[in-house]
Amino acid sequence: MKITIVGTGYVGLVSAACFAELGHEVIGVDIDEAKVKKLKAGQSPIYEPGLEELLVRNLESGRLSFTTQLAEALPQCQVLFCAVATPPNEDHTADLRAVFSVCDAVAELIDHDLIFVNKSTVPVGTGHECEKRIASIVAKRKKKFHLPVISNPEFLREGSAVGDTLRPDRIIVGINGDEKARELMEELYQPLVRTERPLVFMSRESAEIVKYASNAFLATKISFINMLSELCEAGGGNIRDIAKGIGLDERIGPRFLHAGIGYGGSCFPKDVKALLAIGRKLDLPLPIIQATQDVNTHQRERFFQKLLNAIPENASIGIWGLSFKPNTDDMREAPSLDLIPMLLKMNHIVRAFDPVAMENAAKVLPKEVVYVSSPLEAAKDADAVILLTEWDVFRGVDLKELKAAMRGRALFDGRNVYDSDEIREAGFTYQGIGVK
Ligand SMILES: NC(=O)c1ccc[n+]([C@@H]2O[C@H](COP(=O)([O-])OP(=O)(O)OC[C@H]3O[C@@H](n4cnc5c(N)ncnc54)[C@H](O)[C@@H]3O)[C@@H](O)[C@H]2O)c1
Repeated sequence: MKITIVGTGYVGLVSAACFAELGHEVIGVDIDEAKVKKLKAGQSPIYEPGLEELLVRNLESGRLSFTTQLAEALPQCQVLFCAVATPPNEDHTADLRAVFSVCDAVAELIDHDLIFVNKSTVPVGTGHECEKRIASIVAKRKKKFHLPVISNPEFLREGSAVGDTLRPDRIIVGINGDEKARELMEELYQPLVRTERPLVFMSRESAEIVKYASNAFLATKISFINMLSELCEAGGGNIRDIAKGIGLDERIGPRFLHAGIGYGGSCFPKDVKALLAIGRKLDLPLPIIQATQDVNTHQRERFFQKLLNAIPENASIGIWGLSFKPNTDDMREAPSLDLIPMLLKMNHIVRAFDPVAMENAAKVLPKEVVYVSSPLEAAKDADAVILLTEWDVFRGVDLKELKAAMRGRALFDGRNVYDSDEIREAGFTYQGIGVK
């Protein structure tokens, strides 16, 4: 099948490479010329395990190509995916300008029938809005094409995006009664359906809501365990044991019950806030979602407060991990973005190490941050080391070497990676989350 994917970011690029891997002919379109230049040369502009290999293989096979010109990607295209960003507006609603500009451009240029698939995360009703815009522009051109807009939200996780795309838990497709669109989507996803991946059809509105509902539910699980971590700190108890104790109940499950400094990243904070904004528009308070967000903010603040209270004036601080989670270079809504500027403002010195995100971090963090090339270098002469991202490289750090490198003894574990007893026995003061 001939596919066009507009927007080659974390979602669009991974989708493009995976659809090509599954045998489809894919053209990726992006307005970012530098990105397209890199992609054409077989270089991934983002860090995502396994992606570059797929990119190179499918460029070589001729099934995958890239352009900045939408007009070049439209002839013969049967299915067009819109995978552009939908960042938050100031009032936390989703900024749909990029989605609408893709709709408008497609409607201006198209000269045949096409299925327009919205892969971006968009509020309920956006598909309807897109369809109206496209129909109106096509009518102004005095043309008539079959151009249904359907919803196919994306659930991949950064850091395991390739595996998630090739082996998704489910594929959700929202179509309002268009048989042709349904058949094309069945054909498109047939390679995955053959491997028993569920392809679930529903209305376009339901599919749009499923995406926000999934992220909000996962964020709620995180906030739930984080809320209990505070209870453990105040009343006794170990949050790891609580998580294990409830997670072994099959109805609850163990995943997303890991206490830490709260969720970050490009999706959870934005989608939780956007869902609340959708609720406001419809005059619905959505109280559980509001509590999820409030707990997340509180969790981060109280961890920061504890460490700010504990460190000396003009301290030297080693930061371990900058990206919002391991295995990605994505800095969006990473805790490091909140903490590091605060530390620098208070005249502390910050030495930071992250295995892949330092280049991106340097673009968004104050220039005073000193970037180094190993965990121990970040810890050199530090009064305190703060683990913000649970990259594997931090798990195996030699405690004797760490002690020798540091000036102070404080270890703040924002991800509950370490065993507190072991760390204290090695001569450190330890501050985790919901653990003694
Ligand atoms: N990142 C994730 O983990 C993830 C997971 C699931 C869903 N989503 C959703 O998918 C969507 C895309 O997210 P992302 O993280 O891939 O964004 P991104 O910012 O990484 O990529 C978006 C890309 O679109 C390009 N673009 C913007 N306007 C364009 C236009 N008019 N024409 C062509 N290209 C254009 C940008 O240059 C950029 O390369 C968002 O709605 C997001 O909420 C993201």
